[in-house]
Amino acid sequence: MGHTMQATPRPLIVGNWKMNPQSVGAAERLAADIKDDLPRTSRADVVIAPPFVYLDCLRKVRNKSKKFVLCAQNTHAAKMGTYTGEVSLPMLKSLEVTHVILGHSERRAAGETDEEINKKIHATLKAGCTAIVCAGERERDVSGNYFTFVERQIRAACMGIGKSKLANLAVAYEPIWAISSGDGDGRTATAEDAHQMKLFIRKVLTTLYGRDAALKIRLLYGGSVNAKNAEELLVKGEAEGFLVGGASLRAHEFVEIVRSAR
Ligand code: PGA
Repeated sequence: MGHTMQATPRPLIVGNWKMNPQSVGAAERLAADIKDDLPRTSRADVVIAPPFVYLDCLRKVRNKSKKFVLCAQNTHAAKMGTYTGEVSLPMLKSLEVTHVILGHSERRAAGETDEEINKKIHATLKAGCTAIVCAGERERDVSGNYFTFVERQIRAACMGIGKSKLANLAVAYEPIWAISSGDGDGRTATAEDAHQMKLFIRKVLTTLYGRDAALKIRLLYGGSVNAKNAEELLVKGEAEGFLVGGASLRAHEFVEIVRSAR
């Protein structure tokens, strides 16, 4: 009813390298292979999230090509101080990092709470970076409790985040049961599963912010995305991008996933 048509956003394709590869030399080669293989202009925004210690190396590989941007896999909410082992947003920004993954299930499993994640989202947005916030259930149940679970994670993440910041927010639905299964037992979410949850997450965000503001938030999918299922997840699943783990460590396959965005 009188709503303006929204242009489809450019997909955001994020390679989450997790704790890989094992040396700076290998990281440099992987990044260079991806850069060389990427088309000069792609129809997606390409984001690479290496371990902190490789960010500077990737910054140099990226150099002036601007074919990808840099992402951190986590941040501390404070700018500086007595936090042994932590890394802050000013440090990340000094390495040209523009995106930060927050609330990944592997970090939640290591004890990160909704409150901590919310603080980090506030700090990331305040620093002018894009926050890629992960949410997703451990298991699915027949009565659909996983919807309530995901809704709770999203509401907690968005606590106190104002409408003006939403263009720098992306939400990645990552069902834990579908993560890292691509090369293993093959439990991956179908495009229908991903689509159904995407619509649900949009509804939750619409309740919080209203329809037009909620549409600014890009809704990604993650969990065993590979070169074979990417196109279907984009077309049928209407994913607005991906968080790619395992397949992002294979340069050619990662670029294939980027190319599936048309
Ligand atoms: P996967 O990881 O693609 O290896 O399943 C995705 C993620 O955990 O971000």
